[in-house]
Amino acid sequence: MVVVEDTPEIRSEEFGLLEEEVDRLFTKLNPLGWTKTACESIAPFTYKINQLKKEKGFKILAHSYQTADIVFGIADIVGDSLALARKATEIKEKRILFCGVDFMAESVKILNPEKLVLVPARGRDCTLADSITGEDVRKLKEEYPGAPVVCYVNTNADVKAESDICCTSANARKIIDSLEEDTIIFIPDENMGNNLAKITGKKIITWPGSCRTHNALTIKRLEKLILDDNTKTFAHFECRPEIIESVDFVGGTGDMHRYSTNAPKDEKVLFLTEQGFIDRMKVEYPDVQFEDSKMICISMKRNDLFSTWKALEKPTDDNVIELDEEIRKKAFRAVNNMLKY
Ligand code: 13P
Repeated sequence: MVVVEDTPEIRSEEFGLLEEEVDRLFTKLNPLGWTKTACESIAPFTYKINQLKKEKGFKILAHSYQTADIVFGIADIVGDSLALARKATEIKEKRILFCGVDFMAESVKILNPEKLVLVPARGRDCTLADSITGEDVRKLKEEYPGAPVVCYVNTNADVKAESDICCTSANARKIIDSLEEDTIIFIPDENMGNNLAKITGKKIITWPGSCRTHNALTIKRLEKLILDDNTKTFAHFECRPEIIESVDFVGGTGDMHRYSTNAPKDEKVLFLTEQGFIDRMKVEYPDVQFEDSKMICISMKRNDLFSTWKALEKPTDDNVIELDEEIRKKAFRAVNNMLKY
């Protein structure tokens, strides 16, 4: 008989602690509609993961797009890709478990080659990262000599290695504004490049890549999401230009987070970005009425409590972020430049 071990073993003396864990989870997750029973079903996992991470010297970093059980149940540090890349260079722990997509975990490894970086379930299928290679960037540089290359963080290491500076949604505008040149190669998000060209007035050479989650938002869908005429709408840079033109505000998730901290009580806000971010805001700012975007990034959602528990208990080669050292060294410049903004 094959025994499939699929729940962490909880010793009898730990059962009392498990009740405390259920209460802790319920306090955090109830604003999102989680019941006590639902919290009871995940408590053995969050309890064991939190225990294992301490025993093994890991810090868990989670992107805001992760599910709420990860963000509020097990993460030590939650943030956007820029904040996580920064934090990863500051923490003393030599072991990082990264709940996010591959290219973000790669950025952490590029900056911290001496650290072990694990991802529970590899999200290697970002439509943006998949749209361009290092070879494509070399050709663009030949075509537009002298134009600096700004690559979005949603790129693989070989693309970062060919770029001058990397950016995230939090600092893209600042970086484009700060460059002396008027013609800039911005890869690979075409919507974001076109939106930034309009905002900054620079000539932006774009690449035909897009985020399947943000690009899927059409005006028709947006109209269905706005439940009240007084709702403030705030679109991510990765949305289509027609969406950007029809909303109140535009920016990255960092700007959206800042907006949440200052939003008046009971204001209705619709952030047009991944639902995980909205769930995070709902818990952290309960006085604001956040509408659901229902936008889901399936690459981000690969990580779950089960794969996280397994990765901490017994990591496989597939959990470990490894990079070719030559590429890592070349990519370091662009990623390190990103941290200056
Ligand atoms: P941020 O990390 O800047 O929030 O962007 C994440 C992302 O992948 C957007 O698609």
